[in-house]
Amino acid sequence: MSVTIQQLSQWKQQGRAIVALTAWDYSSAKLLDAAGVDLILVGDSLGMVVLGYDTTLPVTLEEMLHHAKAVVRGVKNALVVVDLPFMTYQESIQQALQSAGRVLKETGAKAVKLEGGYPEMAETVSRLVAAGIPVLGHVGLTPQSVHQLGWRQQGKTEAARAQILAEALALEAAGAFAVVLEHISPQLGAEISQKLTIPTIGIGAGPDCDGQILVAHDLLGMSERLPPFAKAYANLGVLATEAVQQYAAEVRSRQFPLRSNS
Ligand code: KIV
Repeated sequence: MSVTIQQLSQWKQQGRAIVALTAWDYSSAKLLDAAGVDLILVGDSLGMVVLGYDTTLPVTLEEMLHHAKAVVRGVKNALVVVDLPFMTYQESIQQALQSAGRVLKETGAKAVKLEGGYPEMAETVSRLVAAGIPVLGHVGLTPQSVHQLGWRQQGKTEAARAQILAEALALEAAGAFAVVLEHISPQLGAEISQKLTIPTIGIGAGPDCDGQILVAHDLLGMSERLPPFAKAYANLGVLATEAVQQYAAEVRSRQFPLRSNS
């Protein structure tokens, strides 16, 4: 049975933690889904991790659609959510409806994620939800605003903490089904998770969020730099390099292919 947005909120009530990861292609999505991940995000971190940009800003809607289609083809159970990239929803509610509508119609994903809180973004979220499009909010460090915020932890002053809490509450009131909390203090992560009835999904927001999300490349040890709040559970980068080196050595020494590989 596929994970639904209603199930996520039941899990919050039951205290069952939500497990979320990013994916951008068919085979990784299939692997994550078979391993029991609840929510798979086709994140716009695609731009940095897969496409080699310095920020997420250059990512286009066409690129997100292309990768989201591949992910959806690999998933049987997880809830697939797709990021709306920079400047595909900020311009107007009309633009947000068009972009989010394309995601649901063309990819088969079940929800979109967008960054930012209130007042403008909450209004956009409520119009998307009214159109039948489930929305995952995202507050705290919002990478599409990197030129304003940097990559620093957010919510360091009392005013900034209050602002992030207000944004999360506004997203809930607007009908978002859950909110991602990125790179804020564990105390603020706990406070928002306690004040919201919808689930929070943390990344660098402490252990008291209702769920956790990581970039899959970080978890697998395939990233150039591991953010301070992430954890590598494997070292696939090293394993892959060793495998390629061994292949290169065997080709050069004519140990591969053997007759039996031919
Ligand atoms: O794009 C992304 O991968 C994200 C997660 C880090 C939450 O937004």
